[in-house]
Amino acid sequence: MELATTLTSQTVQNAVREVGINPNHWYAVGWADQLKPGEIMPVVIWQQAIAVYRDINGQLHALEDFCPHKGVALHKGKVHGCNLACAYHGWEFNSEGSCVKIPYLPEKQKLPRANVRSYPIQEQYNLIWIFPGEPKLAATCQIPHIPEFFENEWVVVPISAHFQAHFSICNENTMDVFHGFLHQGLQGWFDPVLLSLKETEASVRAEYNVSYKGHMAKFLGLSDRADTVTTLPITVEYRYPHYASSLQGVSSLYLMRLPIGSNESRSFALFFFKVRLPQWILQPIKPILIPLLQRFVLSKFLAQDIEMIESEQRNYLANPQRRYVEINPAIIAIQRLIIRQHEQFMQKSIQPSLQHQERESVTNFASGS
Ligand code: FES
Ligand SMILES: [Fe+2]
Repeated sequence: MELATTLTSQTVQNAVREVGINPNHWYAVGWADQLKPGEIMPVVIWQQAIAVYRDINGQLHALEDFCPHKGVALHKGKVHGCNLACAYHGWEFNSEGSCVKIPYLPEKQKLPRANVRSYPIQEQYNLIWIFPGEPKLAATCQIPHIPEFFENEWVVVPISAHFQAHFSICNENTMDVFHGFLHQGLQGWFDPVLLSLKETEASVRAEYNVSYKGHMAKFLGLSDRADTVTTLPITVEYRYPHYASSLQGVSSLYLMRLPIGSNESRSFALFFFKVRLPQWILQPIKPILIPLLQRFVLSKFLAQDIEMIESEQRNYLANPQRRYVEINPAIIAIQRLIIRQHEQFMQKSIQPSLQHQERESVTNFASGS
């Protein structure tokens, strides 16, 4: 559905600042190359604590971060072959989450039934992805498609961030191209114009025009010349729960959001640039160029964003009743989408339990109890 692009005042739905996630999607939780065989990484996806480990064969597994013996966090343990052993008494859990060994159990004695939940997990684009929802839906959901990752002409700069803020505040920052004002000291973009806005059941896609100027913009291929203004169309698409944005073939951004809790979120982003250098120069200098771009370009933009996002969150918490005014219809659209996705999940999870209750009451009625 096409939406109007007029910038008129609309009231923000404060409910979006506290809404939960739809867990029936793949969430990126960490960089795959940072978890070596035999290592364990604790992660949290919207209040679910998960121990991710790579077994000695290099396979990834994800178990609830909770030992069913006494409740100790499993990520404090050790990888034993393909299993995860709890740090406290050494109970071992296989990749399905079943206890398969207790080191001090007498030989002929049967193992107790002690299980933890296991999660679908995969690695792709050097990211670890977990499906925290209904496991049987994992196969029907796709992780984002990132073709640039396999194309040599792009310089890919990975960058992760941590925010003391609800994921809706972070997501609005990514959709809101009008905040170029914040980054003007860093030669960011300017003069944004919202050209089109489209909303579907699971996505919001906005197209803006933005302008660039300066030496950094020229080096990154965003501007033709350092001293003149180049105007380009940029599309920003929020496909719940992640972002894909593209600047007319010269740069793209894929941003994966990880909601941790009501005031905490993370992001894992892949920036792609077409740097204006010949391939024979570019390829050997990529290992130096990437950390330089991370440190001197992207993390400076990010630090400014984090300051605004966290300030917004603190002031919301100090006075949740306060009314806010928004004029960008793209922001109102993603708020609707975030609330809708959570409601859809809640309805689906309520329905089976209602059906169960209905069945029970029919059975009770039939048995006269
Ligand atoms: S608490 Fe985990 S083995 Fe005892
Ligand atoms: Fe920003």
